[in-house]
Amino acid sequence: MTTIDNNPFQVYSPLYDEHDYTIDDVTGELPAELRGTVYRNGPGKMEAGGTPLGHIFDGDGMLSMYSMSDGVVRFRNRFVQTKHYQRSIISEGAPFRALGTMRDGGLLANALRFPANVANTSVIMNAGKLLALWEGGRPTELDPDTLRTKGEYDYDGELKWLGAFSAHPKWDRDTGEMFNFGLAMAPVPKLICYRVDRQGKLSRLGQVKLPGPMFNHDMGLTKRYLVFVIPPLVFPLHKFFGAAFGLRNYIDAIDYKASVGTTIALVPRDGGKTRIFHTDPMLHLHFANAYDDENGDVVVDVLNYHATWEQLNGQLAGVETLMETSTMPYGGLPTRVRVSGSGKVTIDEFSDVPGEFPMININQMARPNRYFYLSAATGGSLFPNALAKIDNETGKDTLFQFPDGHLPHEVIFAARPGATEEDDGWLIEPVLDGINNTAGLYIFDARRIEAGPVYIGQLRHHLPLSFHGCYTPRVAQPKGATATR
Ligand SMILES: [Fe+2]
Repeated sequence: MTTIDNNPFQVYSPLYDEHDYTIDDVTGELPAELRGTVYRNGPGKMEAGGTPLGHIFDGDGMLSMYSMSDGVVRFRNRFVQTKHYQRSIISEGAPFRALGTMRDGGLLANALRFPANVANTSVIMNAGKLLALWEGGRPTELDPDTLRTKGEYDYDGELKWLGAFSAHPKWDRDTGEMFNFGLAMAPVPKLICYRVDRQGKLSRLGQVKLPGPMFNHDMGLTKRYLVFVIPPLVFPLHKFFGAAFGLRNYIDAIDYKASVGTTIALVPRDGGKTRIFHTDPMLHLHFANAYDDENGDVVVDVLNYHATWEQLNGQLAGVETLMETSTMPYGGLPTRVRVSGSGKVTIDEFSDVPGEFPMININQMARPNRYFYLSAATGGSLFPNALAKIDNETGKDTLFQFPDGHLPHEVIFAARPGATEEDDGWLIEPVLDGINNTAGLYIFDARRIEAGPVYIGQLRHHLPLSFHGCYTPRVAQPKGATATR
């Protein structure tokens, strides 16, 4: 039997062509009530000027769009027209430094140069703007119908200097506010916190000073706090300056230093003083949710890895090594971090289903959630091969196992209009068939994932694995679609 294990290079093989069409190869039916648009972002190509990129974080951002209405799905994909992308398609060799890729031309060509903004990590629709996010720099705004790039967006000048704006903002559906942070390395390493109001106006909220240059990817939100659970991923100064002066990649300058432990920072939404706690070292990238419980504890669910940073980073490394050298089973374990009112921290792994890309019904952000969903890995797989639904109330997990060689991207939840139950809605995810190098859009009834997809729309091409995306009830009108019904 052919497995994805001996066919590793199709996972991130590029999609250079930009498509517009109505998906017409369909199994099942698109639910009539499911209207809206799913946007996704991820690396669409893994070379620049013919030079292979060194890390999947470096690939040029490519948006894909699934516009769903009247029983049909229209697909469109477009590269984000960043400077990196525009130069990369005409240059000889890599035109810029990236996080894990050096520019051609040796030391002088790399010293004191920041990684290029490749706008590849996530995409959000907020206050009427479609923004591609990349955590090292400013968002990039795109037209929500055509995916035409409008340019970098700095919130009316409020994002200063590099304008780092993380790829994991969180929403409070009661207030319409969005919260996010940016990682600043100089002059003092810190996390700068932001609040964006319902109208899209950004203001600074506070900051978390870091003991030195560190890496932090995600955050949580409760009714009271922005919550950071910062793993001990540090840039030792000699490595940090080595990277800055072009002696090594930025990504290779990160070390996991267990002795630093995990730092928890609670930044009050009302502008009060930040509270800091320290606990045992953990290795994680993503949060499932955070909330204040009925006792006043702050509860955060993360995916905790039983692996070294070298193993995890190796799994994330570039196409030349990805999957070939990885020996680490895919995913982290759902883990609850609880901070009591008195500051006591407890850590509890509460599920044995390994996975990544946790997703919830975003109406539950900042409040207790019963369910979350994962791209899961069964049987010690090195790749995601299943969709999992975890029930926090019963501890039960439900799985849908994809056929051999099929890799699910992150799943997106879309609530059914008028739903009163948390899991009343649909789970929408592209799935790559890594053996045949094709892809499809799978849609599940979130209440019954074990029953299998209610809809599979076969794409006319493959789709390299993407990182993060969003759903909006706004139906995009992709001009130029080749067919309508
Ligand atoms: Fe992420």
